[in-house]
Amino acid sequence: MRAKEDHHRFHHKVNMYITKKLFNNPTAYIILLLLSYALGYLSSPKPHTPPPPSRPRAGAGAGAGAATATSNSTIQLPPSLLDNFRVTTRCAADSVPPQLVRQTIIDRIFNGTSPYVNFPPPHISHLLRRRRIKGWGSYGAVFGNLIDKVRPRVIIEVGSFLGASALHMANLTRQLGLDSQILCIDDFRGWPGFRDKFKDIPMVNGNVLLYFQFLQNVIYQNAIDSVLPVPFSSGSALTKLCEWGVVGDLIEIDAGHDFNSAWADINRAWRILRPGGVIFGHDYFTAADNRGVRRAVNLFAKINGLKVQIDGQHWVIHSAVNA
Ligand SMILES: C[S@@+](CC[C@H](N)C(=O)[O-])C[C@H]1O[C@@H](n2cnc3c(N)ncnc32)[C@H](O)[C@@H]1O
Ligand SMILES: *[C@@H]1O[C@H](CO)[C@@H](O)[C@H](O)[C@H]1NC(C)=O
Ligand SMILES: *[C@@H]1O[C@H](CO)[C@@H](O)[C@H](O)[C@H]1NC(C)=O
Ligand SMILES: *[C@@H]1O[C@H](CO)[C@@H](O)[C@H](O)[C@H]1NC(C)=O
Repeated sequence: MRAKEDHHRFHHKVNMYITKKLFNNPTAYIILLLLSYALGYLSSPKPHTPPPPSRPRAGAGAGAGAATATSNSTIQLPPSLLDNFRVTTRCAADSVPPQLVRQTIIDRIFNGTSPYVNFPPPHISHLLRRRRIKGWGSYGAVFGNLIDKVRPRVIIEVGSFLGASALHMANLTRQLGLDSQILCIDDFRGWPGFRDKFKDIPMVNGNVLLYFQFLQNVIYQNAIDSVLPVPFSSGSALTKLCEWGVVGDLIEIDAGHDFNSAWADINRAWRILRPGGVIFGHDYFTAADNRGVRRAVNLFAKINGLKVQIDGQHWVIHSAVNA
C-alpha cells in the first residue's frame, strides 16, 4: 500500500512539475525522461532489442538514442535501469504491402471470413438502426487536407466509435480514386456510462452493440471494401499490427483522451507509421484538450525532437518534415 501511495504521489509530483517547468528548465528533461521510462515506452539500448528498423525516425520506442539526442546534455541512465522498461515486442522487419493489408487482417483476426458476411445476425438485426452516426470533429478539414497530401493506401484509425470519421475518410479517398484500406481500432465498448448519452445504442446481456451498429453503418454507406474494424483495445491491437508488419501511411489517434491513454497510443502508433507518413489526432484545441492529449502530444514531440502542427482542433506530425 505504502509503496503504491508513494508511487502515486511521485506521479502527481512529476505531473505538477512537468506542467510548471516543461519548457523552461533543463532539469525538466530528466523528469520527462524518467516519466517516459516509467511509462515503459522506451526500449533498452541493448543490442538484443534493436529499434524497429523502418520507423520514420527514432521514436520514443527507440531508447537511449532519443534520450540523449534531445536532452542535449549528459543524461545517462544506467543500462540496468533502462532494461526494466524496455519494449519487448518485436515488430516485423518487413511491412505488409498495402494491397495485402486487408486480407492479412481478415485472416489473422477474423479467421479468414470478412466480418460483414452474413450480417446482421437475426437475433441482432431488429436492434440496429439503418444508420446511426455521431462523431466529434469527425468532418474537420484536416481529414481532406491530409488525405490529399498523403494519398494514403493504408489509414489506421485508433478510436472509431460509430465510424463517423472513418466513413468520412472513406468518402474522401473514394472521391480521389484511391484504393485505400481504413483499419478501425476500437474495442467498441464506448466507456462506462456512455449509454447515458447514447440511450439508443442497445445492450444485450450487458454487451453494448456499438460493434454491430458500426458494421451496419459501414454497410449502409457501401464502404465494406475499404473499412475494416479491428475490435480490440488500442494497446493490444497496435502491438499486434507492429508484430505483423501492418503499417499506416496515415494514422489518426482519437481513443482515450487522458494523458496515459493518449501517450501510450501515440507511442505505439508511431512505431507503425510508414516512413514519410503522417500521424494526427483530435482534441488538441478543443475545450477538452487539457484532459491529457495536448500534454501527451507535446511531450512526445519534445522527447523525439518533432514539430507539431495544428489543423483546426487536430494536432499533426509529418514524419517526412521531421526526417
Ligand atoms: C471519441 S470516440 C472516437 C470518435 C471517432 N474518431 C469519430 O470522430 O467519429 C473514442 C473511441 O475510442 C474508443 N476507445 C477508448 N479507449 C480505447 C482503448 N483503450 N482501446 C480501444 N478503443 C478505445 C471508445 O470505445 C470510443 O469509441
Ligand atoms: C544544446 O547545447 C548547446 C551547447 O551546450 C547549446 O548551445 C544549445 O542551445 C542547446 N540546445 C538546446 C535545444 O537546448
Ligand atoms: C476458422 O476457419 C476454419 C477453416 O475455415 C474452420 O474450420 C474453423 O471452424 C473456423 N473457426 C472458427 C472459430 O470459426
Ligand atoms: C459519404 O458520402 C455519401 C454520399 O455522398 C453521403 O451520403 C454520406 O453522408 C457521407 N458520409 C459521411 C460520413 O460523410
